[in-house]
Amino acid sequence: MNEADRIAADFGRLFEAEEEAGLAVLDTEGRIRLANPALWALCGAGPTPVTGGTVVALFAEETQAAVAGAVSAAIAGPPAPPAVAARLADPTLPPDAAVEVHCRPLRGEPGALMRVVDVTARRRMQRQLEEGARLRTVGQLAGGVAHDFNNLLAVITGAAEAALARGGAGTEEELRGILDAAGRGARLVKQLLAFASRQTLAPQVIALGDAVATMEPLLMQLRGARLALELDLPRPGPLVRVDLAQLDQVLVNLVVNAREAMADAGTIRIALAARTLTAEEVAQGSVIPPGDWAVLSVSDEGRGIAPEILPRVFEPFFTTRRGQGGTGLGLSTVLGIMRQSGGHVSVAPGQGQGTVFRLWFPAVHGAAPAAREEAATAEPPGPARRRVLLVDDEPAIRLLARRALESAGHEVQVAEDAETALDAVGAGFVPDVVVSDVTMPGEMDGIGLARALRDARPGLPVILVSGYSEGTVGEGVAGLGIRFLEKPFRMAELVAAVGEAAPARD
Ligand SMILES: Nc1ncnc2c1ncn2[C@@H]1O[C@H](COP(=O)(O)OP(=O)(O)OP(=O)(O)O)[C@@H](O)[C@H]1O
Ligand SMILES: [Mg+2]
Repeated sequence: MNEADRIAADFGRLFEAEEEAGLAVLDTEGRIRLANPALWALCGAGPTPVTGGTVVALFAEETQAAVAGAVSAAIAGPPAPPAVAARLADPTLPPDAAVEVHCRPLRGEPGALMRVVDVTARRRMQRQLEEGARLRTVGQLAGGVAHDFNNLLAVITGAAEAALARGGAGTEEELRGILDAAGRGARLVKQLLAFASRQTLAPQVIALGDAVATMEPLLMQLRGARLALELDLPRPGPLVRVDLAQLDQVLVNLVVNAREAMADAGTIRIALAARTLTAEEVAQGSVIPPGDWAVLSVSDEGRGIAPEILPRVFEPFFTTRRGQGGTGLGLSTVLGIMRQSGGHVSVAPGQGQGTVFRLWFPAVHGAAPAAREEAATAEPPGPARRRVLLVDDEPAIRLLARRALESAGHEVQVAEDAETALDAVGAGFVPDVVVSDVTMPGEMDGIGLARALRDARPGLPVILVSGYSEGTVGEGVAGLGIRFLEKPFRMAELVAAVGEAAPARD
């Protein structure tokens, strides 16, 4: 073998051994003279790169013209044309599959060399990073607006309270309306702050399977009568660090979305699994970093999410349900909370139909910290059981508050307005303590309800929950010894208030 043959043999081996890039040597008609194994592999279930076949046929129809242009430019001689983006003809490829095609003239003889590189993973990663950066910017904006907005609300509330205190004849109702709207504004701001990851957290190390299992009654209620809910939870499950109130909120938002996406019958599945992501899997285009994760998934069999709106669903105020009362803050809150907990959210089409949302919590190793932290944050023992009448027109608050109170050992009767509450009492429910919203639809507000119940049972402990402060409402209820809890409140505050308000029953 002479020197030239040896070099040719070496290049042949290099050509064969190349794993990343598919390579083909083309004749002056754009037919394949030689293709390496990597190109065969890339072509998958599509047309194969056989010798003598036209190289352009390997590509999807809509990209064939671009590839043909690059091939003829390369055959026509230097300079080499720029790389073109294309798609291989393999019908089994995912919809976002993409390759980059580089063509250059052969040196010293007619023809061209083609290099085909799979850029699907790189593009996916880039898209997700851009998406993440965009949402972070929106988050900063939302956080900033929320902060200023809070200050404005404080001014509005303060002025309305002062006017109410002065007792302008005939304006009381309007002023309460203003205060109520400001209270709703404050709740909106709170959601925005959650999205901007600026909430104060009380994270705890907990076993995720157990924590989600205790939410089952709440989630069962949320899912609605038409739908089934299945939980597949290892118990106690992987350890994670999370704020329990926020975990509630995240799951509630996802289950409500799943319910809204399914018009008729169907099943919502909540599953939990430990997952280790390797560096290789991450290189496949995932932006979730390698490591050990606890993955909680919520799947539905609903209408799915159209690809063109998928990139926007985590945006605050993005909603396709504006007419049906959607604010578009559900998923942005989920994203904000998961980010603040060091985790991630991903969304994918479900198997067959529907959608799967996955919550990625960084796994916490070792059991020791759990015991210590729980001991430090646990409530004092001795649950004193009380009968609580809980009145609020907002279903979400009713559900969360009920769950918090029930898990503290209380018996809870809920009602959505004063009239229903009075009906429940009329039907024989004897409350030890009443928790009621102040502003409610219907004839009677929370203060009226408190008065009516007190008339029948003087001294009955009442906690009024309000979007504005005690000073405002205080006027109407001076001397009644009613406790106030300002919205938004934490469930732990509510449980403590109930504990302090009513003497324990046996
Ligand atoms: N499981 C799902 N299936 C289909 N589409 C969904 C699902 N979850 C969310 N979406 C889409 O994403 C949009 C945004 O969801 P998000 O929870 O942020 O707001 P919303 O549900 O519209 O309103 P809100 O939660 O504030 O009441 C929805 O309007 C809907 O189009
Ligand atoms: Mg929602």
